[in-house]
Formats: sequence, C-alpha cells, structure tokens
Amino acid sequence: MQLRWAILRAPLGLPPGSERDAEDETALLVVACRSDGRVVGTGRLHPVDDGTGQIRYMAVAEDCRGQGVGARLLAALEAAALEQGLKRIVLNARENVAGFYARFGYRQLAPGPLLYGKIPHLRMEKYLT
Ligand SMILES: CC(C)(COP(=O)(O)OP(=O)(O)OC[C@H]1O[C@@H](n2cnc3c(N)ncnc32)[C@H](O)[C@@H]1OP(=O)(O)O)[C@@H](O)C(=O)NCCC(=O)NCCS
Repeated sequence: MQLRWAILRAPLGLPPGSERDAEDETALLVVACRSDGRVVGTGRLHPVDDGTGQIRYMAVAEDCRGQGVGARLLAALEAAALEQGLKRIVLNARENVAGFYARFGYRQLAPGPLLYGKIPHLRMEKYLT
C-alpha cells in the first residue's frame, strides 16, 4: 500500500489512505520483492462479473522500471485470473502507459475515466487463453 500510494497518489498531492478502496478486502494483491525484502512492485485483481476481472493499481518503483517487474506482475495477475475461471481482463490504463498493456495483448476499447479530473485513461481489455 505504501508503494501504491507513493507511485500513484502522492504525486497528485493525495494523502495516505487515498490509495485504497473497498475491493482491497477481497481482491488479489500481488507484490514484487527484491531479495533484500524491498517491495518494488504491486498490482491488484478483482472480479467484476462472472467471467471478467479488473486489474488496478499497477505500480513499479521508479528506480526498478524497465527490468521486467511490471511484466511479471501482470503475468502473475493473469495467471491468477485464469485460476479463478476468469476469461477476460479489463483495465483503465493511464494514457502514458497504454503501450505497456498493449505490449501484452491488451486492446483499446474506448476512452476511460479522467482520474481526479486530470489524468486521462483508456479503457482496455484482453481475453485470456
Ligand atoms: C507501467 C509500469 C507498471 C511498467 O512497469 P515496468 O517494470 O517498468 O515494465 P517492464 O520493465 O516489465 O516492461 C515490460 C515491457 O513493457 C514496455 N513498457 C514499459 N512501460 C511502457 C510504457 N509506458 N509504454 C510503452 N511500453 C512500455 C517495456 O519496454 C517492455 O517491453 P519489452 O519487453 O518489449 O522490452 C511502470 O512504468 C509504472 O509503475 N508506472 C507508473 C505507475 C503507472 O502509471 N501505473 C499504471 C497505472 S494504469
């Protein structure tokens, strides 16, 4: 949660706690840890309907990006989704990272929400195989 807040909410001037929502109680949270125990990445999966899950709160520490951490988090979340019987993942990608999701087979559906009135998102989906 600390990393989620530091990467996704602190830059918007939002306080600790703003990074959580009610789905955290039941969602699957994944973290990437270095061998020294430092948490360097995180992401979350929660079901939205019978066959569909949503990935949210993907964040990798700035000094650890570009090393495959995000890819491994995404793969772990997709594998968990398949284990849960989910067939499709949806997500709202920040526009500047839509290319990351596209790299792993997500396709753009439509414009997504404008987070806090300032961060444009794209709605994306992927059918799992
Ligand atoms: C998006 C994020 C999770 C990616 O994590 P990462 O560990 O840097 O990603 P990886 O190193 O695993 O990259 C995997 C692939 O995606 C590509 N990629 C990574 N970020 C990208 C981006 N912003 N745009 C396009 N491609 C990207 C990499 O080049 C790599 O491609 P390759 O396998 O062909 O070399 C990370 O940049 C991040 O935390 N960003 C800030 C928070 C954020 O915006 N989260 C998403 C909210 S929707």
